[in-house]
Amino acid sequence: MEKVLSVLALSLLWHWKCVAVEMPAHTTWTVFTAGKTWSEAELLCEMRGGYLANLNTTFKNQVFEHLLGKEPWNSAVDHGTTVGLHNTNNEASDPHLWLPDCTTNNITYSYSFTFNGGCLSKGQSGNWDITCDYDNEFACERHWGYTCPYDTIQGTKAGRNISSIQSQAFSDRDCQELCDQRGVECWAAARDGADTCYLYQGSSPFAFDDGVETVTDSSFTMFIKRCYEGLVDENTYDWLQVTSDLPLSVCHDSDPGGRVYTLVKEAKSWGSARAHCSGIGQTLAGSRTAMDRQTIQDVIQEM
Ligand SMILES: *[C@@H]1O[C@H](CO)[C@@H](O)[C@H](O)[C@H]1NC(C)=O
Ligand SMILES: *[C@@H]1O[C@H](CO)[C@@H](O)[C@H](O)[C@H]1NC(C)=O
Ligand SMILES: *[C@@H]1O[C@H](CO)[C@@H](O)[C@H](O)[C@H]1NC(C)=O
Repeated sequence: MEKVLSVLALSLLWHWKCVAVEMPAHTTWTVFTAGKTWSEAELLCEMRGGYLANLNTTFKNQVFEHLLGKEPWNSAVDHGTTVGLHNTNNEASDPHLWLPDCTTNNITYSYSFTFNGGCLSKGQSGNWDITCDYDNEFACERHWGYTCPYDTIQGTKAGRNISSIQSQAFSDRDCQELCDQRGVECWAAARDGADTCYLYQGSSPFAFDDGVETVTDSSFTMFIKRCYEGLVDENTYDWLQVTSDLPLSVCHDSDPGGRVYTLVKEAKSWGSARAHCSGIGQTLAGSRTAMDRQTIQDVIQEM
């Protein structure tokens, strides 16, 4: 009987783990103010270890829109910023997909397609379809894993309006870990002198930012979870120029296998390199899929 009970307890625990809440990833979005086409923007994002902003869930889209209304983005974004949603083949009827995994768009945007295909630009006052070769500001996304940093504020706790769950925690880190475990249902926690950890049930990552929901109390230390950060890069990246009718995306070629790469050990401009490649019956590599570019990086590292 005891054995059966412990198996039952184990399976209950397993079940509880399975229904765990959505975990927010630690994400930085950088808005680049230099005007670039969608393809140039995506190449630059990849070079920086990321991809064009992926707003494939309603929650992430809301967080991104919130940041557009705040500094430093508020001043940096003129009209709109290019994100990852793009038309696969420049035909209006082709699907619009997000990077990096080519998931379909499931967020309703109030824009219509009047071009032959297009890409998405997001601004504070709305969303626009732009031609993918339009030089626009753009936002890169980068993930830093599933642990978010915390801001620590001494002498502060949440106000009475915020409901909380209480738990014991013998250190600040323990209290933060309890908040981590609650995923998107906990954006802040506080610990008092009696080792009680209060997990606040705020609905937004920014619920505690303007001071309305916090009060002063010297016996508390408050921790605000910081999963999302909006940065700005004002460099011009003049060297980056890609000429392509189509968005150069991982979503075009589903099977990049069976390729032969020829390394030409001669310095050439992009244009003449392309002409050279076509002269030897090949195409210039690295301009169609991220996997192409990854292969080239791997080969270079082994040389
Ligand atoms: C959104 O994209 C991420 C990859 O960044 C993927 O893991 C996730 O399944 C996608 N979600 C939806 C709802 O498509
Ligand atoms: C897509 O949207 C529909 C309706 O808005 C929703 O029921 C569904 O869960 C969404 N799918 C994903 C993967 O988010
Ligand atoms: C919080 O509750 C108080 C009353 O207890 C109320 O006056 C105040 O407007 C509430 N604040 C918010 C932000 O809801």
